[in-house]
Amino acid sequence: MTYIPEDYYFRRAKKEGFLARSVYKLQAIDEKYHLLKKGMWVVDLGAAPGSWSQYVLAKVGPEGKVFAIDIQPIKLSAPNLHAYLLDVFSQEVEALLASASFDGLLSDMAPATTGSRLADQARSAALVARSLFLAEKYLRPNGFWVAKLLEGPAREELTQKARTIFQTVHVFRPPATRKGSSECFLIGLKKRP
Ligand SMILES: C[S@@+](CC[C@H](N)C(=O)[O-])C[C@H]1O[C@@H](n2cnc3c(N)ncnc32)[C@H](O)[C@@H]1O
Repeated sequence: MTYIPEDYYFRRAKKEGFLARSVYKLQAIDEKYHLLKKGMWVVDLGAAPGSWSQYVLAKVGPEGKVFAIDIQPIKLSAPNLHAYLLDVFSQEVEALLASASFDGLLSDMAPATTGSRLADQARSAALVARSLFLAEKYLRPNGFWVAKLLEGPAREELTQKARTIFQTVHVFRPPATRKGSSECFLIGLKKRP
């Protein structure tokens, strides 16, 4: 098992009551690209344990809604949080997303690591591709998409595909990303009509 040190962001998350240190990655993305606003309906894929959902709930306020999806339990409850124990590749996820109109789709999904860098990159790329497919199909025009990717050979293809769906696409590495990690975030702004 890999040793993960309890760094500055880990301790800060504990102190500020967030369920994971990854919240500071979303916060950095949101502060740079101004994504989340009051009243928005947002999908959070790979939401467990729940720090991104905590952050989004605070930003969208009581008029907004968060649809949090994971294969592991989400350790959070709130009146406007709808949590689902589902695999993102399932038909149920599609049925759920088809039932409403969403302003944003976030994915912090990460595959269980195998020890093989290429295999992990390929699984991560498959999760990003799935989130992009769901965004293309179910996100409202002008909506935004954020997805975590372990950098690898698929990045260029995924970025190109995202450019056909969104007016602007960025690749960003938030400061809270661990040193030595190859992860980055693909960000699509203003979904084309
Ligand atoms: C880094 S964690 C997410 C942390 C979360 N954003 C937070 O702030 O608490 C990655 C998550 O992706 C989820 N995941 C991986 N594959 C998935 C799949 N096929 N469907 C849904 N969730 C998946 C994992 O179960 C894990 O909880």
